Amino acid sequence: MSTHQRHINDRRAHARPVPIHARPAGAAPRVLTLSVFDAMTDPLSDRPVHVPVLAEEVARLLGGRRSADSVSGLLVDVTLGAGGHSALLLERFPRLRLLGTDQDPEILSVARERLEPFQDRVRIEHARMSELTQVLADLDEQPAALLMDLGASSLQLDRPERGFSFAWDGPLDMRMDPRRSRTAADIVNTWDEGDLADLFFHEGGERGARKVARALVEARRRAPFRRTRGLSEAVAIALGKPIRSGGDGPRRGSIHPATRVFQALRRAVNEEADELESGLAAAREHLAPDGQLLAISFHSGEDGVVKRFLAEGARAGEWVLETRRPVEAGPEEVRRNPRSRSAKLRVARRPLSPSQGDPTV
Ligand SMILES: C[S@@+](CC[C@H](N)C(=O)[O-])C[C@H]1O[C@@H](n2cnc3c(N)ncnc32)[C@H](O)[C@@H]1O
Repeated sequence: MSTHQRHINDRRAHARPVPIHARPAGAAPRVLTLSVFDAMTDPLSDRPVHVPVLAEEVARLLGGRRSADSVSGLLVDVTLGAGGHSALLLERFPRLRLLGTDQDPEILSVARERLEPFQDRVRIEHARMSELTQVLADLDEQPAALLMDLGASSLQLDRPERGFSFAWDGPLDMRMDPRRSRTAADIVNTWDEGDLADLFFHEGGERGARKVARALVEARRRAPFRRTRGLSEAVAIALGKPIRSGGDGPRRGSIHPATRVFQALRRAVNEEADELESGLAAAREHLAPDGQLLAISFHSGEDGVVKRFLAEGARAGEWVLETRRPVEAGPEEVRRNPRSRSAKLRVARRPLSPSQGDPTV
């Protein structure tokens, strides 16, 4: 039994069971008795579903000093994913209602099944953060809280056919929202060398960005890039790193040489920087007075954007900061879920009145 599986089993033994039945269309129902806090298995890849990061901290900061029964109103989870955070919050706060949105309809079908036990308090919609202003303007109430857990879900990263991962071979796609037309292959095969280098450097932090861009432009003259394996091998060669045989899954304990280039491509395909700006602006415009924004980011650039947005807003009287420094995962969570290592949670509240801002920030 793997260490990961052992953790799952240990946690199952202590968790309150809630039936979750997630299955691909047409397949026989597969009922998994798991806790809403727990990892469930992705029926398509058979690997564990995304484990929510900093979930206890989110619940603690959302609840504040109130009793669980007095936490009510509408939570909008704008990156619903597999519904891990939302499931925990709905279970913890029985009077909380949820509008869950995500740009990935495939993931929403997993969330729909996971959140079935709470269905009378849940509504789910397919939407990007850049569409939130419209979605929230159509509501007949202002949200009491808005949660964003940025980046990609394991349900995207671990499905080879979605083309996000250097660790699995698949089409070079990376679109979270299938309504988008531009794929990662389109970028790699058409952007000029300078633009690719800037992208790899600024969005991925790849120090060998120029070398990689030059090598990719050279290689695509012979044949365009179509698969993740071809790209990850070309990046490794350009950086003078050994090619990892396979495309057959992640390895523990080492960073693949193509990690940064893949991250940069994912951010460009999904226009993550612009999306974040839109999501933050929608939160400022639509949260109720005293409404709370909780934002988890995994990328230092993204955390910087959230931090500046909130600090500038606090100076302008638009936000009251509830976390001066970001909340990070403790060693136990990092051990259980290495993805939590880079997570940063920032929380702020809309002022009750315009004079309640925080000019000291
Ligand atoms: C880290 S996962 C969220 C996981 C979720 N909190 C859970 O516990 O299962 C991020 C999710 O945000 C979605 N997402 C990323 N950018 C988005 C955007 N601009 N608009 C809507 N959804 C987005 C992704 O499709 C993905 O499902």
